[in-house]
Amino acid sequence: MIAFYNGEFLPIEKISISPFDRGFLFADGVYEALRTYNKKLFMLQKHLERLKYSLEQINLNFSEFNQLENIIYRCAELNSLDTDFSTYIQITRGVSFPRTHYYSNQIKPNLFVFVSPLKNRGREINEGVSVTLEQDVRWSRCDIKSIALLPNVLANHKAISEGHYEAVLFRDNFITEGSHTNFFAVKNDSIITAPLSNYILNGVTRSIIFNLCEENNIQIIEEYILLDEIFTYDEFFLTGTTTEITPVVKIGNRMVGDGKPGKLTRKIQKLFYEFVRKH
Ligand code: PDD
Repeated sequence: MIAFYNGEFLPIEKISISPFDRGFLFADGVYEALRTYNKKLFMLQKHLERLKYSLEQINLNFSEFNQLENIIYRCAELNSLDTDFSTYIQITRGVSFPRTHYYSNQIKPNLFVFVSPLKNRGREINEGVSVTLEQDVRWSRCDIKSIALLPNVLANHKAISEGHYEAVLFRDNFITEGSHTNFFAVKNDSIITAPLSNYILNGVTRSIIFNLCEENNIQIIEEYILLDEIFTYDEFFLTGTTTEITPVVKIGNRMVGDGKPGKLTRKIQKLFYEFVRKH
């Protein structure tokens, strides 16, 4: 596999990264994950805007945004990928020695990009998935797409080990989002999801859902889904770049409704794929 690191396309075993990279020592960096549809990068500008936002929030100067698109396509070409793929972009603050929390603004950021073929998720999209509920123990800047993902890793690992697809996180009585997804509920024909704040990531897929609902007169409300009322909602779904719109048909060991994807979830999926075809 060939990946891009600081100006070079190299087989991954030839890439050398300093152990004094602040990403390695402090998780001092940010990332983006995006995908293609019909081999074209989907919502590239939105992802780049969010990357800029994340970088600004951690005071990391990086100016090579214009090169990212070409780097990604070149990576796909060098790996002879002729299917749709996902791509990961990571920027860390760079190398500084000795190890100090303080950083100089003079250090050069390190850019890493790789691509990988997408798995077929037809079954999850069509039949829905099961999730667990876990306490959200992340920091209070979840709006930054930071590479410090240990709480997300632990919650997701636990969920998958117990046979679920995703861990849905809660703070007190408020459901925030999934470990790598945004979370939506449906009640009385309205869609409900957590408001944008420092407690969730401003998902690109989430923003598409908002536009689709507005254009199609579907009521969408930014309001917390409540943990202690979770079984009073009619439907649930998860959204994300690779998760797309995935129905949730089971929470813990309890089925949602009749255990099949809900009607409004199906409608949102249909509108989403129509949107994808046009972009
Ligand atoms: N995850 N919330 C969190 C915590 C996420 O990590 C993600 C994305 C989302 C959905 O955002 P979007 O619709 O822009 O993909 C919500 C990516 C895919 C990841 O970590 O790989």
